[in-house]
Amino acid sequence: VIDIRKLYAQTGMFTYDPGFMSTASCESAITYIDGDKGELLYRGYPIEQLATNCDFLETCHLLLYGELPNQEQKNSFTKLVTNHTMVNEQMQFFLRGFRRDAHPMAIMTGLVGALSAFYHDSTDINNPKHREIAAIRLIAKMPTLVAMAYKYTIGQPYMYPKNELSYAGNFLHMMFATPCEPYKVSPVLERALDRIFILHADHEQNASTSTVRLCGSSGTNPFAAIAAGVACLWGPAHGGANEAALNMLYDIQKAGGVDKIGEFIKQVKDKNSNVKLMGFGHRVYKNYDPRAKLMQETCREVLGELGLENDPLFKLAMALEKIALEDEYFVSRKLYPNVDFYSGIVQRAIGIPVPLFTAIFALARTVGWIAQLNEMIGDPEYKIGRPRQLFEGSPKRDVQPIAKR
Ligand code: ACO
Repeated sequence: VIDIRKLYAQTGMFTYDPGFMSTASCESAITYIDGDKGELLYRGYPIEQLATNCDFLETCHLLLYGELPNQEQKNSFTKLVTNHTMVNEQMQFFLRGFRRDAHPMAIMTGLVGALSAFYHDSTDINNPKHREIAAIRLIAKMPTLVAMAYKYTIGQPYMYPKNELSYAGNFLHMMFATPCEPYKVSPVLERALDRIFILHADHEQNASTSTVRLCGSSGTNPFAAIAAGVACLWGPAHGGANEAALNMLYDIQKAGGVDKIGEFIKQVKDKNSNVKLMGFGHRVYKNYDPRAKLMQETCREVLGELGLENDPLFKLAMALEKIALEDEYFVSRKLYPNVDFYSGIVQRAIGIPVPLFTAIFALARTVGWIAQLNEMIGDPEYKIGRPRQLFEGSPKRDVQPIAKR
């Protein structure tokens, strides 16, 4: 590893690295990925153990404070979060300004940014107390905001949070209960959703996390920085991939299902087609994404619980994965399923509409974004992020009067 800052100070030399293929933007102690082995650790703990033995709020505590909570810490952290699950009533009026058919991520980008207009006691990013309360507010309010966005788009009244429920259970309640009918939360679906949250909670310096860090490095408020992360996550090459992956499966299904996989793969391999196998490939993992394995397992559990063991979309996804993993194109490029390949099927089975998938990813990733922001701002040496460029435009020239141009 070369410390370019020292080299720059000594020689004025800087590197050219579009897409940050080989440049570390920070030091971090939060998440470790070994892309070749397909290993993911949060603060040293394997993702498989966290997904099996812990719940999402324990994982939040781990990411934010560096350690898993003991029972007492867990109780007080849970109480703190649940104390903040409601959002200011004025937010409803802001929400009403959106078209009913707006994409939930368009709404979320606006709503999360708008939080900074409501909570003035937590907007100073350089004040650790402000950052802490902003962190709790964001973790607590994201499910409420996502559920409000959903209810708004379908024209139903918002459901207030129920703090006696678990984090995931409360989200299901706000999504699917109505004033006329309560929603009976199934423990299997609740656990599956909680697992989705854990698996998406952090993933070191991906595009949206780097966006949050860069945005926060200007000293903007934490809500604005997280809104920037939401906006970045929306793209189909990042968080939007779960929606894109499910839509891809639907398209193959419509075209004829398993028999049409070969034709689809041919299209993917044709460089002029611009078609990608969504939910496959990763900048860092050059092996099976460990989250994809857990997600596939969760998929089985959820479909089993719902009596949908023979779900044609799940069968199609498994067949597609098998064919791709035996194909020279994918093998030579080390393209494996990523977390998004199966997460859409799980979410769809839980009853979550497809356009909401990325918003749920944003909900879960919020804790990672905040932990990363805290780590950056807490470092006394942090500086505003300011990438350099290689200028390739016109040399210096004089402006001509308009009649002569
Ligand atoms: N389908 C087909 N070909 C692919 C795919 C794919 N999903 N992913 C990569 N490739 C090919 C590229 O075309 C390229 O081929 P080439 O060497 O012949 O030009 C090669 O594999 C290397 O790929 P890059 O695009 O250089 O890899 P990069 O690290 O830049 O991209 C990315 C990673 C964006 C995730 C890419 O694999 C992709 O677009 N995947 C589909 C979208 C997706 O699932 N995104 C979710 C990522 S995980 C997350 O954000 C939670």
